Amino acid sequence: MCGIIGYIGNRNAIDVLMHGLKRVEYRGYDSAGISIIENNKLVTIKKSGKLTELYKVISHSNHFSNIGFGHTRWATHGEPNDINAHPHLDNSGKISIVHNGIIENCAILKDLLLKQGYTFKSETDTEVLAVYIGSIYEKTKDLTEATRLALSNIVGTFGLLVISEYEPDKIVGARRGSPLVLGIGQNEYILASDQTAIVDYTKRVIYPDDDEMVIVTKDNYILKTLDNIEINKKESTIDLELKQLEKKGFEHFMLKEIFEQGETIENATRGRMIFDTGNIKLGGLTEVTDKLRKARRIILTGCGTSWHSALVGEYMIESLAGIPVEVEYASEFRYRNPILSEEDIVIAISQSGETADTLEAIREAKRKGCTTLGIVNIVGSSIARATDAGVYLHAGPEIGVASTKAFTSQITILLLLALYLGRMNNISQMDGIRIVNEIKLLPKKINTILQQAPSIQKIAKQYANSPNFLYLGRGYNYPIALEGALKLKEISYVHAEGYPAAEMKHGPLALIDENMPVVVLATKDDIFDKLCSNIEEVKARKGKIIAIATEGNTGNKVLEDKAEHIIYIPETSNIITPILSIIPLQLLAYYIALERGTEIDTPRHLAKSVTVE
Ligand code: AGP
Repeated sequence: MCGIIGYIGNRNAIDVLMHGLKRVEYRGYDSAGISIIENNKLVTIKKSGKLTELYKVISHSNHFSNIGFGHTRWATHGEPNDINAHPHLDNSGKISIVHNGIIENCAILKDLLLKQGYTFKSETDTEVLAVYIGSIYEKTKDLTEATRLALSNIVGTFGLLVISEYEPDKIVGARRGSPLVLGIGQNEYILASDQTAIVDYTKRVIYPDDDEMVIVTKDNYILKTLDNIEINKKESTIDLELKQLEKKGFEHFMLKEIFEQGETIENATRGRMIFDTGNIKLGGLTEVTDKLRKARRIILTGCGTSWHSALVGEYMIESLAGIPVEVEYASEFRYRNPILSEEDIVIAISQSGETADTLEAIREAKRKGCTTLGIVNIVGSSIARATDAGVYLHAGPEIGVASTKAFTSQITILLLLALYLGRMNNISQMDGIRIVNEIKLLPKKINTILQQAPSIQKIAKQYANSPNFLYLGRGYNYPIALEGALKLKEISYVHAEGYPAAEMKHGPLALIDENMPVVVLATKDDIFDKLCSNIEEVKARKGKIIAIATEGNTGNKVLEDKAEHIIYIPETSNIITPILSIIPLQLLAYYIALERGTEIDTPRHLAKSVTVE
């Protein structure tokens, strides 16, 4: 969850670290800190609160160093305060570490170290690891070896950096289950949890794998396994432009990302649709075409918004390809001993490609012999590398913690996948051609919805103080109701629930009174009339209806009579509707949060990339 950055080279490390921390702040933001080695002495500065708090302290200091690292924290062990903030030191005060992950056997280790007379200042698992490395260093007098031996006894996950004034020209890094990337610059190296912290300096990177270490000095780096075997790895190139990391005049990254969706859908589909045959070309799947053709079942897995995409994908694949699909929360799938066979295809959906539960779900599926695919945004991420094949979203970096453009790209890719499989099975050329031509129109239609932002903002203002919201949808719009509610919860801290509209009368109807805004996805489809009955049920209890409707639908008359507000989306076919119907809900959540004055891009308690289980 946390963001880490390390630097060794000729620049002032403090500038690089603070800039890098800003880039990775979206990974965690309850405290931050840095360690540098200045004149062979370790200096550590850390502060609870957002990165700006650390800035205030550092801007009044006069430190200079060519080596150091920084950390921005999302608390797992111990509340967010100055003491629990990273970096953490060993008992000599000469070894410092930053860590992303969880040390599961920290209680046993701590006990052992306490019995040996070591002491602890914080409540964190990371300090236990720092003290443990220090205790081994006392015997080995070798920082790399002390780190290696300590990590060999660790149960849990780590993306870790270690520096020490004992060996002041070196950064030792290691990973298991948490990301770590090595950036190779001109006489400088950057180690980070995230390529966004590296791209300012270089695009040349190496991705260490689990249970690998990297030992970096100013002129060189060595890669080795935790079993002490030196290895070589091929360099990769970061596929990211600096300008993609800017807000481009928008007040928040989230709003910018909502407005990018016309473009990101175009990027997701570019070169992948063949218009004269209605076929789909997904280069990343070429090697597994045969397995896909023989697939008996598809399991879609992910967390949060990506899990909602999976729900949409289930409907799309079953309808176009006729292959049975199951959707699993990655966190449940990995622990419940799922019954899998070699004919099953397990597809992980993830924006970051680093979500710990999703990564582990994929590993479990691999152990059971399934073919694994990734639908991932971040190129070179752990899930992208762990799966047998996959399709990238090409949505560009998503910085706002609330996922928006990644969601619409995920469901667009799932639609392409459904059509790809469908054209192998039972979808006619005519139907294929009709669908790709409709997909082609999406960017234009998305922009029509975005133009309604000012009127959606007016609706948001009216309901910004409501303590509860209900979101209702049926069919393809049921997952959209869940996603709309999640968006509102995470950025505005308002309680919201999404439901399949017909389920309401089995319980949630009891919640409805004149104070309950009910967002109803009432787009044109073959169950529109059924949905209207659900609207009547809400109205009979005096609920306030905010409807999302299809322009030109003859049935809209009912909505005009019953709904307090109607937001229109352009007409498209049923299967494509969710890519459009989520957009007004993203805007509604954004403007309600804006009205409530919350931290939209970095909502409390959350982090962009959940690398702990
Ligand atoms: C989305 O708004 C959330 N912040 C969250 O649910 C997210 O979708 C989830 O953590 C999964 O992340 P991933 O797509 O990077 O795997």
